[in-house]
Amino acid sequence: MQTILVTGGTGYIGSHTVVELLQKNYNVIVVDNLSNSTTDSLDGIEKICGKRPIFYQNDCSNMSEMTSIFDRHPEIAASIHFAASKAVGESVEKPLLYYRNNLLSLINLLECIKTHAGGGIVFSSSCTVYGQPDVLPVTEQAPMKKAESPYGNTKQIAEDIIVDTVAAYPEIKAIALRYFNPIGAHPSAEIGELPLGVPNNLIPFVTQTAYGLRSELKVFGNDYNTPDGTPVRDYINVVDLAKAHVIAVDRLLTNKGKKAVEVFNLGTGTGLSVLEVIKAFENATGVKLPYSIVDRRAGDIEKVWADTAFANKELGWSAKETIEDTMRSAWEWEKRYRSKVNITQ
Ligand code: NAD
Ligand code: WQD
Repeated sequence: MQTILVTGGTGYIGSHTVVELLQKNYNVIVVDNLSNSTTDSLDGIEKICGKRPIFYQNDCSNMSEMTSIFDRHPEIAASIHFAASKAVGESVEKPLLYYRNNLLSLINLLECIKTHAGGGIVFSSSCTVYGQPDVLPVTEQAPMKKAESPYGNTKQIAEDIIVDTVAAYPEIKAIALRYFNPIGAHPSAEIGELPLGVPNNLIPFVTQTAYGLRSELKVFGNDYNTPDGTPVRDYINVVDLAKAHVIAVDRLLTNKGKKAVEVFNLGTGTGLSVLEVIKAFENATGVKLPYSIVDRRAGDIEKVWADTAFANKELGWSAKETIEDTMRSAWEWEKRYRSKVNITQ
């Protein structure tokens, strides 16, 4: 079976993708510097799959570390590049850290793929590249807006770097996957999202509040031009998302791509408001969620959801999990994780 390098493979989306790859009998090599994850996810992966990926605790922004992995593993047939720093607010405070980490990591990986004939790359992009789209649902052809944050800018620049690299070295093929809002956890509750400190994102804040770690959820604004006034997003189940990566890798390895760089939206195609998300959580878990409406959060966009027609048709992929099942998985993971580590902060 072929070998896939997964950078950032101990992280949230990476670990779920490693599970799907191993279950499809790919050999997997994970490289992660553990800046935003731990090796606990490798234990979780092993419990789910009965096997463990090869693991290197290395930094993708370090060229010699990346080169040595490719030297040791000439069998690498393709790479999935998750490794990046992803906190939007932090990127405003520490732009150089974000540009260095996210862009150098990508450049090093592309360089290694080029020099080692390492096949293609699947890249983690984001719906953040669209900003507030003029037309909804948003298609892959929508223009990129000026990035709202250095983090968002790294995704735009990264896509440009990939386009230019693939144009110069046609032996490298690429697929950029633009995720909408990934949420939920593996149904086994062995792996899930692990935000450090107070979560910025909605679902970890919801589950931590339900668990009693936070007194209430603050809903950032109810005066938007949306049906109930709260912002609308496209929340995509992380296992559904992970499965799309396996399809993308298959597509690279079998040369099915119609262009040297292909770009796909990965979402459900349906927008949900913050209040609808709260209701779905309560319905799915039976847990009442305390919340209050507060001012808008700076930089938030009003509404965005994906046009998934291209991914549906070309990848034969679509989101399957319901929002209730996804909420339940996030809740089961939160409870399991807290009881395991006995963390109350
Ligand atoms: P995550 O933080 O859980 O995973 C990223 C992993 O990369 C972490 O394990 C971290 O330790 C590792 N990492 C960071 N810099 C590294 C480096 N220089 N070398 C090696 N490892 C490094 O985040 P995630 O939510 O799983 O996101 C994965 C990818 O998807 C990221 O590129 C992110 O920007 C992108 N993305 C995430 C979301 C989201 O909402 N979660 C949405 C769109 C796009
Ligand atoms: C969702 C909604 C908030 C927390 C971010 C990044 C984006 C992408 C995905 C990587 C919004 C509301 C949230 C809270 C709330 N990541 N909210 N109270 O902002 O859509 O996107 O993650 O590429 O780049 O910006 O996700 O989960 O932070 O917020 O009311 O405590 O929940 O206002 O409407 P967002 P989010």
